[in-house]
Amino acid sequence: MLVAGNWIMILDLASARQLTSGVVSAVGTPKGTGVALCPPFVDLDATYSLLHGTGIRLGAQNMHEQDSGAFTGEISAPMLRAVGCHYVILGHSERRQLFGETNESVNKKALQALSHRLVPIVCVGESLEQRDADRHNMVVEEQVRAGLANLEVSSSSEIVVAYEPVWAIGTGRTATPDQVQDMHGHIRSLLQDIFNEAIGSGIDILYGGSVKPGNAAELFQRPNVDGGLIGGAALNAEDFAAIVRCAEEAA
Ligand code: 13P
Repeated sequence: MLVAGNWIMILDLASARQLTSGVVSAVGTPKGTGVALCPPFVDLDATYSLLHGTGIRLGAQNMHEQDSGAFTGEISAPMLRAVGCHYVILGHSERRQLFGETNESVNKKALQALSHRLVPIVCVGESLEQRDADRHNMVVEEQVRAGLANLEVSSSSEIVVAYEPVWAIGTGRTATPDQVQDMHGHIRSLLQDIFNEAIGSGIDILYGGSVKPGNAAELFQRPNVDGGLIGGAALNAEDFAAIVRCAEEAA
């Protein structure tokens, strides 16, 4: 189980410090579930200072596919490692929709993350139009197969997949537990096929999209739902800690 907070582009340095301290005291030492915070780049260093030694890990929200070079405005995997990142979110639907990321660019970044021992949290998910046209399974299969192509993984803890239906992100409209369970089962079979039975069975598949303290328990109890990628509710320390407790109870 893993509960990761995606702080999107919300918090400046002072607010990030404040929220991190709040999360550290509200969550305490994580018991049997991984916990991670993914602040904006400029807050990573300060967040790491507050997280170091707590058992809560640090993640970034994106990265570039090259080590270094003339890529103004970009951040590399070695830079993320140097400020204490363990995870990096890749291919979030906002990156795909607003910044032109494709399955191919997500794949390049995932390869790069693994080669620097960062754990990629690879996001997949269909739009409302695709769900209404009953194309969600096909779209997600394409994203998973292309995004994870040619990855060499020797343990299931080296990679995380997050299913985030675009229509459920920040809308207050959560996918139903049945819809989540069906898609996670689909992703599980794909992972077993892409890697092997043992690795594919152990990879954490997170659900993201309007997860709140009030619906987390029901979602996390479903088979193949191994935690959550939390947006809005991760910006409140008490809410985030309540979601972590739901994961601990489901573990
Ligand atoms: P919300 O929890 O605000 O719907 O955001 C989900 C998300 O996109 C996390 O990456």
